Amino acid sequence: MKRLIKGGTIVTACDIYTADILIHQDKIVSIGSNLQENDAEVVSAEGMYVFPGGIDPHTHLDMPFGGTTTKDDFISGTKAAAFGGTTTIIDFCLTTKGRSLKEAIDTWHEKARGKSVIDYSFHLMVSEITDEVLEELPRMIEDEGISSLKVFMAYKNQFQSDDETLFRTLLLAKEHGALVMVHAENGDVIEYLTKQALANGNTDPIYHALTRPPELEGEATGRAAYLSALADSQLYVVHVTSAEAVRKIEEARSKGFRVYGETCPQYLVLDQSYLEKPDFEGAKYVWSPPLREKWNQDVLWNALRTGQLQTIGSDQCSFDFKGQKDLGRGDFTKIPNGGPMIEDRISILYSEGVSKGRITLNQFVDMTATQSAKLFGLFPKKGTIAIGSDADLVLFNPNAERTISVQTHHMAVDYNPFEGLKVTGEVVSVFSRGQLIIKDKKFVGSEGSGQFLKRNKFQR
Ligand code: URP
Ligand code: ZN
Ligand code: ZN
Repeated sequence: MKRLIKGGTIVTACDIYTADILIHQDKIVSIGSNLQENDAEVVSAEGMYVFPGGIDPHTHLDMPFGGTTTKDDFISGTKAAAFGGTTTIIDFCLTTKGRSLKEAIDTWHEKARGKSVIDYSFHLMVSEITDEVLEELPRMIEDEGISSLKVFMAYKNQFQSDDETLFRTLLLAKEHGALVMVHAENGDVIEYLTKQALANGNTDPIYHALTRPPELEGEATGRAAYLSALADSQLYVVHVTSAEAVRKIEEARSKGFRVYGETCPQYLVLDQSYLEKPDFEGAKYVWSPPLREKWNQDVLWNALRTGQLQTIGSDQCSFDFKGQKDLGRGDFTKIPNGGPMIEDRISILYSEGVSKGRITLNQFVDMTATQSAKLFGLFPKKGTIAIGSDADLVLFNPNAERTISVQTHHMAVDYNPFEGLKVTGEVVSVFSRGQLIIKDKKFVGSEGSGQFLKRNKFQR
């Protein structure tokens, strides 16, 4: 089956030009002016940008967390991703102490297989270093193609690991070619501040933010960066929110450490004041790390623009307001942390970033697709538009306007944190390995068509 995408403006991380793209089966086989192919189905991209399919490096689908399970699974979550122009996700596979890593990976394969409408891979959480983990982990990286590991420095008594575990994970990653990802907050001090707040009767959602101040994000980020340098390893800091954390990443990078950072749309657009919304609505805005004071947004945009932060993840981790977020009425520590973001990640970055002149079109593609492909061992199969690459493509109308709303989104949750936000630009059609999965804003894909991606080792 051949398809010819005609007349679009192709945008990659480094080029912008008008050309046709010929797809044969799942690959891009030719790019050029006025391509003719008699037996190809022609798709017009006149007046549209053609982007490489987005890569979301940070999702939590069908994940048990905070006494409940995320509302979006690999069906609703990946369909919503597709509507938003994302054709690859890397989801976090949780592990349990005392249980084999293989068992954890098998559980995550079960969650995704037969459901995902786009390609997917997994990051593997490391919660302890035991003889069994030392024996299994290299096989996960080398044989299963899971070349990124996740260590939590927060969520005490739940996911949090100690510094020895982080350090030994960094050493293993160095030896076997993986990238270590950290949730960088000081979980011990957060635990103390949280107990103090509750003891003082401070139970509202805003105390979630007040007990997780940016100093504790900066401290953990700096600690992880130094441990990574000591191990001569590589580190990726997920969901960076604050000036304190950005400064630590900049400092580490200026010393030549291999430290990379991601931020998320919510931290670029929303701020701490949202947690004070009345009628417990503030719970909709509970993320960890928390939303920050508004001025931090300029620091994050600058860090993206200057390359100190490389990627935009959604940190998709959705819970209904009714029945899930409201588990925390009267005790903010029981509000499940996270929000629905997989669908609007690209839209918000385009509208708030490119349209408002904060980043260039090439930077936008770099942050939403190319850098993730490079850091997570998928490039050039994914993350760019080139001959031989997978035909994961997004046709995007830069002039369309729409308003984000729970009424029209495709995620399974009962609210959208960006309700009422007007955005410029709209995803019109999406190809996943050459197959149209979104056609003129309608889903035409099929559940289970997404493939698991074994990734290459970390190289930089
Ligand atoms: O609040 C958040 N970020 N929820 C998802 C889990 C995590 O820490 O990434
Ligand atoms: Zn996290
Ligand atoms: Zn997350």
